[in-house]
Amino acid sequence: MDQQFDVVVIGAGPGGYIAAIRAAQLGFKTACIDAFKGADGKPALGGTCLNVGCIPSKALLQSSEHFHALTHEFAEHGIRCKDASFDTAQMIARKDGIVGKLTTGVAFLFKKNKVASLHGLGRLIGRENEKWRIEVRDGEAVSTVEATHVIVATGSNPRPLPGVTIDNVKILDNAGALAMTETPKRLGVIGAGVIGLEMGSVWSRLGSEVTVLEAMPTFLAAADQQIAREAFRTLTKETGLAIQMGVKIGSVKTGEVIEIEYEVDGKAQTLTVDKLIVAIGRVPNTEGLGAQAVGLQVDERGFVVVDDSCHTNLPNVWAVGDVVRGPMLAHKAMEEGVAVAERIAGQKPHIDFSSIPWIIYTSPEIAWVGKTEEQLKAAGIAYKKGTSTFASNGRALGLGQARGTVKLLADAETDRILGMHVIGPLASELVTEGVLALEFKAASEDIARIVHAHPTLSEAVHEAALACDKRALHG
Ligand code: FAD
Ligand code: NAI
Repeated sequence: MDQQFDVVVIGAGPGGYIAAIRAAQLGFKTACIDAFKGADGKPALGGTCLNVGCIPSKALLQSSEHFHALTHEFAEHGIRCKDASFDTAQMIARKDGIVGKLTTGVAFLFKKNKVASLHGLGRLIGRENEKWRIEVRDGEAVSTVEATHVIVATGSNPRPLPGVTIDNVKILDNAGALAMTETPKRLGVIGAGVIGLEMGSVWSRLGSEVTVLEAMPTFLAAADQQIAREAFRTLTKETGLAIQMGVKIGSVKTGEVIEIEYEVDGKAQTLTVDKLIVAIGRVPNTEGLGAQAVGLQVDERGFVVVDDSCHTNLPNVWAVGDVVRGPMLAHKAMEEGVAVAERIAGQKPHIDFSSIPWIIYTSPEIAWVGKTEEQLKAAGIAYKKGTSTFASNGRALGLGQARGTVKLLADAETDRILGMHVIGPLASELVTEGVLALEFKAASEDIARIVHAHPTLSEAVHEAALACDKRALHG
């Protein structure tokens, strides 16, 4: 007889593994099916995020930042180092070690919570007697499980660029960009999005001449444009990225070198590089899921269609993470996973999509939550803004990272915080204060009246809040 479960999750990325753990915590007999295999050919849990996304990229960003600090920043501290060098293979090995720790950590958590971990491709077959049947295929080995509830968490794949084949030797997607064991002399990147800027920064700091080609005329169009302009300046002037906006890619020819022919303002140009990263967004992944056969509704862009509670058009079939609408972010996937498990248990969790933070882990980091100034203008909402820079922040100066700005936007009438935008040291951590402010419907005055420890980077947030009321003390 087929193995029976209350909940079967398909996909063990942050959406899926978290949903499985939460479902098991709530007392459901749970299994999680995942098809991912690591570079060693062995099953590896954690999905894109742990294996070829968030975690490995942050590990390499840190290694490259350390090298950059050693060669460019330590002298100011009176620390001298002759003949600094780096070992790319060791950096990659360290990154792989961190990935291994976390992916085996998910396997440990599954065991601890009694989640059955099934390796293979999960495919919905049909529903009989209120039980979904799901095939698990691992090569030749095929089995079937049954579940009352199914949570689809099959994630996303890199968006292909027509006419360009990713071989992960010369032309790379995110997985290849995270696995180069030598620094290419010239690196091209198509797409000045989050991956392009993060990976471009890593390899630029490790010595590549990096050129980023971006289709849109506006840099980081989703970010507050004051912050985006500052980011563009630091990324081009300090990190050394050559960023070309408004390009139309023509052909990409691969041989000994890669030649990218493109147009800017109707003018033909050619870029010659040794390696090319293509990072032009990601597309939802429903391949092999059997969506069509069981009538699971998928929209024209490939996303599984869900309502506000992540329920699909099929009874007891839910979907979370990158495979459904909304930002493709690990923390969004995880919160949806928790919420679905709790809804199955009859609870009424709520996720506020308007307060999901975005972070780009460049140096300085860029982070934001809530509305940008452009969005407020477009919506005709009267607002006030308070900005403060890290230039006068004692902690930032001590760290040697006194670049950047904090910007708070608050409703002109009610003073309620509507958005927080940061470029600067540890913006990734600072933005949480903005998330709390939005969730608790705080006013800028609330932040202004909260004691912020001294000396900390968070004092820049305090100053920005004071500046909303035109009473900044250090600005
Ligand atoms: P995924 O993590 O994609 O996991 C889906 C899993 O399902 C995979 O293991 C896949 O093999 C498996 N699967 C698919 N189909 C089947 C099937 N039919 N049967 C069985 N298994 C299946 N987000 C952040 O928030 N912060 C970051 O810093 C960040 N950095 C990133 C850096 C890079 C380079 C990339 C590429 C992404 C990054 N992201 C980041 C995005 C983040 O990785 C995704 O939003 C997140 O992984 C989505 O989680 P998920 O569970 O929906 O899907
Ligand atoms: P992205 O959507 O961030 O950026 C893609 C960029 O490519 C866009 O600026 C787009 O205009 C451009 N583009 C599209 N087609 C193009 C073309 N033909 N020629 C030139 N440029 C083109 O996507 P990216 O960087 O691939 O990352 C995918 C997703 O992964 C992100 O949107 C994000 O959700 C997630 N991610 C999150 C990270 C984080 O939270 N720090 C880090 C990396 C990825």
